[in-house]
Amino acid sequence: MSINTMKSINHSNNTVWHEASVTRDRREKLNQHKSVIVWFTGLSGSGKSTLAHAVEEQLHQQQCRTYVFDGDNVRHGLCADLGFSNSDRSENIRRIGEMAKLFIDAGVIALTAFISPFKADRDIVKNLVNPEDFIEIYCQCDLGICEERDVKGLYKKARAGEIEDFTGISSPYEEPESADLVIRTDTLSLEDSIQAVLNLLHERKIIS
Ligand code: ADX
Repeated sequence: MSINTMKSINHSNNTVWHEASVTRDRREKLNQHKSVIVWFTGLSGSGKSTLAHAVEEQLHQQQCRTYVFDGDNVRHGLCADLGFSNSDRSENIRRIGEMAKLFIDAGVIALTAFISPFKADRDIVKNLVNPEDFIEIYCQCDLGICEERDVKGLYKKARAGEIEDFTGISSPYEEPESADLVIRTDTLSLEDSIQAVLNLLHERKIIS
């Protein structure tokens, strides 16, 4: 189901938004850091999950409330009904966007690691929240390198025609044009990549 279709169908009539007394602001004060969505995008094998989890580890050690949403994991549960057609990918990103929005309301630093290949879908998530609540990080990695690494053996299968609609091979990846941060994961070390993300979170006053 496409995102536009989803938007036009709202089955939740007769519902009334309940304002919580424990607000995001109060949660952030308790946590002593701001909440934000840190959105990692890039090809499969570009290192999104590795970097997101490594950044989370550092933040956790600094007493921050964090959670990583990972494409492969989420597709085992919340999004297990979705495949890799354009419309299923859009729905995948829509659900994660809404979920991450709830997590920032919960005062959490929500790190997401999804290919999220379509600019329009990433922009929809960006527009769900305030501009300062969404940080887009492009894990830029040469397709050849991702394919060489082929950690999950999926590129080989895609080249053999055993997987259809594979990003970079038989399905497009639209590079971000104005990411908050571009990390060349094919050349920069993991340590330096983590530091670049942490520096940005400091600059944006998410963490102190
Ligand atoms: S997204 O396009 O909807 O954002 P997502 O990040 O959730 O994708 O899932 C990507 C992961 O699913 C890849 O890292 C890979 O392990 C696996 N995968 C399986 N089939 C495909 C496919 N056709 N294209 C891309 N990734 C696939």
